[in-house]
Amino acid sequence: MQERIDKIKLTFKNLLKEASDSAGLENLRVRFLGKKGDVTSLFLDMKTMKPSERKEIGALVNSLKNFVAKEIVKRGEDIKNLELLETINSLQPFDVSRPANFGKGSYHPITLVEREVEEIFRSMGFIVEEFPEVVDEYQCFESINIPPHHPARDMQDTYYLSDSRVLKTHTSAAQNEVMRKYGAPLKAVFPGRCFRNESTDSSHETTFFQMEGMMIGEGVSISNLIYFMKTMLSEIFKAAVKVRLRPGFFPFVEPGFELDIGCMICNGSGCSSCKNSGWIELCPCGMIHPNVLKMGGVDDEKYTGFAFGLGLTRLAMMKYSVADIRSFNSGNLKILSQFFTA
Ligand code: DAH
Repeated sequence: MQERIDKIKLTFKNLLKEASDSAGLENLRVRFLGKKGDVTSLFLDMKTMKPSERKEIGALVNSLKNFVAKEIVKRGEDIKNLELLETINSLQPFDVSRPANFGKGSYHPITLVEREVEEIFRSMGFIVEEFPEVVDEYQCFESINIPPHHPARDMQDTYYLSDSRVLKTHTSAAQNEVMRKYGAPLKAVFPGRCFRNESTDSSHETTFFQMEGMMIGEGVSISNLIYFMKTMLSEIFKAAVKVRLRPGFFPFVEPGFELDIGCMICNGSGCSSCKNSGWIELCPCGMIHPNVLKMGGVDDEKYTGFAFGLGLTRLAMMKYSVADIRSFNSGNLKILSQFFTA
């Protein structure tokens, strides 16, 4: 037995030197440690031995088995490193002088829609303002007639930061600042990214874009609001758009409306994007509440105005027939590459 063990060890050592790749090493493992391998058969043969012999020989066979196993792992690591080096050496060197590929990539579909809508508003005499994404509670709520503890705060599942500021839940958070900055009369739009702790599905996301608009002047009425909304939407869609107005409650407007458009993904027949109703809530709006005007430093006896919160992300879904809102933030190139410029 001792002789057999020594012979197996020697053969193994010689063959190990020759194993130069992963496949060769695997063959070696099977030959010695596999089910019918040389070392395994030693264990089988031990079964017929006397118990006293078995103990002594068993220790030798075990140490041979451990030796073979350890050597195979060691050699495996060397081979892996060698193979990696070979792969690296076979790669084409990176040529920094090659011209860049400018043909791939483009603006995100929401950026495209945002810019287009901004242009439409500019042509109607509106200014376009930027506003931060982190705001304080006064800007987001109090200044637009949502006092602390008002149940309307529950409508927006808000992300609070540790310093009690918030991620803006809607672009209405900028209304007060814009009124204070420009005074009345005023025509302004302010797009921005908004955040809410929503459960996500094909029409809800935690991060989405809105464009807020305000028009304040002497004698601005609901008729102006309705006319303006229709003109704006037909400009955006470059076609007649089916619209409906429903009463809606928002503390910063009185009266308030929900403006829905006919779903353009299913043409009104019902799909998951419109919750099978055939309509999509696109642009809540209303006549600015006198308290909001007052808090913005605008004379509410002299001026009236309307405000609206256009859902830019929803608009992009309608314009480009994107059925799942989550596609926009997914980074999925299959979807986003459709907007790549040639
Ligand atoms: N800020 C509201 C929201 O995101 C939307 C909104 C409603 C904006 C009515 C308005 C408005 O300007 O008049 O839920």
